[in-house]
Amino acid sequence: MIPVITIDGPTASGKGTVASRVAEALGFALLDSGALYRLTALSAIEAGVALDDAAAIAALARTLPVRFEGERILLGGRSVQDAIRQEAIGNAASKIAALPAVRTALVELQHGFRRPPGLVADGRDMGTVIFPDATLKVFLTASVQARADRRYKQLIDKGFPANMLALLQDLKERDARDTERAVAPLKPAEGAYLLDTSELTIEQSVAQVLDWWHHRAGTLGK
Ligand code: DC
Repeated sequence: MIPVITIDGPTASGKGTVASRVAEALGFALLDSGALYRLTALSAIEAGVALDDAAAIAALARTLPVRFEGERILLGGRSVQDAIRQEAIGNAASKIAALPAVRTALVELQHGFRRPPGLVADGRDMGTVIFPDATLKVFLTASVQARADRRYKQLIDKGFPANMLALLQDLKERDARDTERAVAPLKPAEGAYLLDTSELTIEQSVAQVLDWWHHRAGTLGK
């Protein structure tokens, strides 16, 4: 069986960075599932589809012309890795992610990322719904303030405007929506290791996950 490490957690908890460093350290593939919801949201907005039109958005999700090339994400041949990081797209992604038909439409695409020698998958429901048989499940959190600080820096670094108060408000609303939705809500999977990164550097967080991984892999004789 191809091993999977799932890293779930709220927005801006640092899971994306931790997941990509862990994947790099192990030579595993990486699934940034949030990007798939963001890409679907971007496609819907560009096609003028209403964000509550579940059937139309699910159809877009099923046929996303997406290619991941290292850091680059191509949508129909166009680089969109920066465009999908905008707050407006993140918020739209959180809205369409609450639609069951859209979630179902993205399942197969996500399973397709599971390739030898292994996969690190980051998102909200990686350990609970998409890869329930994962070898190691991590639930990564950080305080709202720490996450707002990180998101602020990320936006400024990418040259987008950012406002701390609006960001805090946004994060809280998004947390509530992601946690309270009926389908695949954000919650730790059974058996998940909890990691609060508020006071940790990226290196410390990565080291902890790798430590857990080596321990699990050792126990399972991999
Ligand atoms: O991780 P992110 O901020 O890029 O995700 C954007 C939105 O997509 C998030 O607010 C909720 C949704 N999402 C989801 O519902 N399930 C996932 N596995 C990943 C993301």
